Amino acid sequence: MSLQDRQIESGTQPTAKTARLEARVADDQKALFQRAADLAGRSLTDFVVSSAQEIATRTVHEREVLDAGVVPPEIAKRLPRDPLIPATLLGRLVVEERLHGEGIAQFLLMDALHRCRAQSGQIAAVAVVVEAIDEGAERFYQHFGFIPFRESQAVYS
Ligand SMILES: CC(C)(COP(=O)(O)OP(=O)(O)OC[C@H]1O[C@@H](n2cnc3c(N)ncnc32)[C@H](O)[C@@H]1OP(=O)(O)O)[C@@H](O)C(=O)NCCC(=O)NCCS
Repeated sequence: MSLQDRQIESGTQPTAKTARLEARVADDQKALFQRAADLAGRSLTDFVVSSAQEIATRTVHEREVLDAGVVPPEIAKRLPRDPLIPATLLGRLVVEERLHGEGIAQFLLMDALHRCRAQSGQIAAVAVVVEAIDEGAERFYQHFGFIPFRESQAVYS
């Protein structure tokens, strides 16, 4: 993640309002949003957009930015002293059952890690995050040196 992305995320750069977003919602949803906006003393649009932005920022942070506190100390000491560590999130890896055990997942994982490493000169990501769907998947990633740091997730630096 670039510095510019992080500045945009943290709201330190003005955001030009050029794009239009429309959504159809149920009457009761709209009434609820309107009531909440009234209570907060904000317009409905402002309330909905700022609420969505807050959740979106949190979601990105949870998945693509690690809190330095979750990284084991022996790895943290090799990283920049920053409370937020930019990371690359890998998509879920699935191999058809009849092809299990033939090294396909290992090949795909190594290919993805090589690509992450190759890009690391241009993209400021210092770790790779994967989301393990179950304990079997967690064991698979740990087999390759990933370190669990949050429920159902593993990190590799
Ligand atoms: C996990 C999964 C991707 C492994 O695919 P695969 O092609 O059979 O794995 P590979 O043949 O490349 O295995 C490579 C190595 O990982 C090990 N391994 C594979 N699955 C493992 C598991 N669940 N736990 C621990 N080690 C595992 C293999 O023993 C092999 O080790 P070796 O190189 O020392 O011999 C596959 O079982 C799958 O699609 N599972 C369902 C989806 C899933 O769990 N995805 C994970 C990400 S959410």
